[in-house]
This record gives sequence, structure tokens and C-alpha cells, in this order.
Amino acid sequence: MDVIAVDDPTDAQIQGWHDVLTAVHAADPAAEPAPDPERTARGLLGAEPGARRRLWAVTGGGHMVAVAALRLPGDPGAGRPGEIDIQVRPGHRRRGLGGRLLTVAAGALRADGRTSVIAQVLAGTPAVPFLESHGFECVLTLRGMLLRLDDVPAGRVARLLAGGPEGYRLVRWRGAVPDEHAAALARAKHAMADPAEYEAAVWDAHRVREMAEIVAKRGDDLYTVAALSGGAIAGFTEVVVPDGCTGRAAQYDTAVVPEHRGRRIGIWVKAAMLDWLAEARPGVREIETENAGDNAHMLAVNEELGFRAERESMEYQAAVTALPGAP
Ligand SMILES: CC(C)(COP(=O)(O)OP(=O)(O)OC[C@H]1O[C@@H](n2cnc3c(N)ncnc32)[C@H](O)[C@@H]1OP(=O)(O)O)[C@@H](O)C(=O)NCCC(=O)NCCS
Repeated sequence: MDVIAVDDPTDAQIQGWHDVLTAVHAADPAAEPAPDPERTARGLLGAEPGARRRLWAVTGGGHMVAVAALRLPGDPGAGRPGEIDIQVRPGHRRRGLGGRLLTVAAGALRADGRTSVIAQVLAGTPAVPFLESHGFECVLTLRGMLLRLDDVPAGRVARLLAGGPEGYRLVRWRGAVPDEHAAALARAKHAMADPAEYEAAVWDAHRVREMAEIVAKRGDDLYTVAALSGGAIAGFTEVVVPDGCTGRAAQYDTAVVPEHRGRRIGIWVKAAMLDWLAEARPGVREIETENAGDNAHMLAVNEELGFRAERESMEYQAAVTALPGAP
């Protein structure tokens, strides 16, 4: 079995990659929608603004049996961790293939000057012992929740919307943030409670626009609702509706800046988002979200809206010096 770089994948390699993802999903569906071939292709072919990517596969008997994608956000150097995702066909596990792919990725991380790497995995899956046996430690537990819009009682959204706090007004936009709100949104993004968010990754107007560009490049639609106090953004929420949406949209960031907390702004902007999506994207039937397991306020807001816990995932991190193949 050989490890090959697939940085410029052929059609056959894209198909092979997709077949690996499909086989892994079939063995452990974890309530996720099945992988979509067009998304796989776009993910492998499309260049992403602000990040580079390295891809490898293990082939054997003319088939792809395992794949690894390493995302390198920002510039080379120690500033931000790389992000690794390895998938091995169920029938080919425990033969060291995951470990071999990790070793190759570790070489690329060193060559790029990175000092750490992160991976997001589902609790209770083989990924946990795999990462723990390779120098990774859990840095964050995330609770995956799902809101089924058909289960939201009639009138709840309207009631929450009407209960908005005095002195604030709602604004909303689709896609990139309008120039007039860009700096204010970057300031509000600092309010996010994300302990694993990489210390050196500062939010500025440029990075806010870059994130919207990444979503648009994938063909997805970003919706943002914000609560304004004067010209400042007191709180905001973002939802992404994937291209070719089959009913499930994804919650992105939500934050209320510290001096505006305690006034139900979080639930207000989220209710306004549901109201907007019902009108603009009636095909959306479910919204998935992930919150840090210790973020009690956000979990309470989501539970009040009707989100239900689905699964737990974990963010693991390793120092590159702890990875296999270290000199
Ligand atoms: C996690 C995954 C990539 C591991 O791939 P793999 O090829 O089976 O891993 P390896 O054979 O290199 O395993 C190396 C070591 O990890 C540990 N390990 C891996 N799977 C394990 C399991 N199911 N139970 C206990 N330990 C396990 C063992 O220490 C193993 O060494 P050993 O077999 O000598 O005991 C694979 O199970 C997978 O594709 N899972 C689904 C996708 C996923 O969650 N990816 C993780 C994102 S990084």
C-alpha cells in the first residue's frame, strides 16, 4: 500500500476519495447526512481564500482505501494550528494506515513551520484512541444539537421576536458583511467564547470578509442577523445554507458582546434568523449547531429555541513535536 499526494486530484481520484467518505459514513452515520459527490469534488478542487491544503491517499489493489486532508490556515509559521482529517475504510483499519497518513501530514506541518495541529472527532469513535495514542489531547468538548423547524411550536418565534430589548434594532444581510458594519462585526466576533480559537487569530474586517468569501466559494449562502446599539453590533448570529440544500442548514457563529449581555439579545437575533429563513429559505427544515460543552448560556438559548442534543464531538490538539516522525 502506497501513500500518494493528491494535491491536484484527477476525476478518478475524486471518485475514489468520495467512495472512502461514503464507506466511512455508512459504517458510522452519526446522524449526519451522507456525503454528497459534488461537495466532495468542490472541497478537493476549489482553492480556499486564506488557507492552503494538502491531500494524501493510501491506495492498494487499484483502490483508495484511506485519505487525509490537512488544512493550513493563514501564513506559514507558528501562528495558527493546522487542521487534520483522516478517514480509513472500515475494512482496512488497525493496520497502521491512519498512523502512516498522520506521519506524512506531520512532515508537511513541520515544513510549513507549524507548531500544533487540531482534529475534530466524534466522541465514542475509534478516532479518540487513535489520536490519544499519537500525542493528541482533548482541548474542547462540543455538543452537537439539532433544531427541527417542524417541531417549533407555532407562535414561539413571533413571541421571541416581539420580546426584543428596548434601544436595539435588527439588521440583516446575506453574504459578505456590508462595509458600514464590517469593523463593528469584527469587534463583535472577539466576543465569541471559543477557548480553542487560536490565540493569534485576530478578527479584523479583512478576516470577516474572508470567512464570507470561503462560504461563497463553496457555493453556500451565509445569512447574518445583528442587533445594533447605535452603530455598534451588540450581538449577531450566522447561519449557512449549503448549496443544493437538502433541508439542513448549519449554525455558524453567535455572540453577544459582554456589555450587552443579559438582555436576551442572543435569543432575539436567533429568533429573527428563524423568521428570515422561513420566508427566504423555506426548504430549510433543520439547523445543526455545535457549542462548547461548558458554554451554559448558549446551550440554554438553544434549548429554549427548541434545539435538542444529538451527539458530542471533541477537539483534539497535538504539538507537532509529539507527532510520529519527529526528528
Ligand atoms: C481514526 C481512524 C482514522 C484510525 O485509522 P486506522 O488506520 O485504523 O489507525 P491505525 O491502524 O494507524 O491505528 C494506530 C493506533 O491507534 C489506536 N487505535 C486506532 N483505532 C482504535 C480502536 N478502534 N480502538 C482502540 N485503539 C485504536 C491503536 O493504538 C492503534 O495501534 P494498534 O492497532 O497497534 O493497537 C479510523 O478509525 C477512521 O477512519 N475513523 C473514522 C474517521 C475519523 O473519525 N477520523 C478521525 C479524524 S482525524
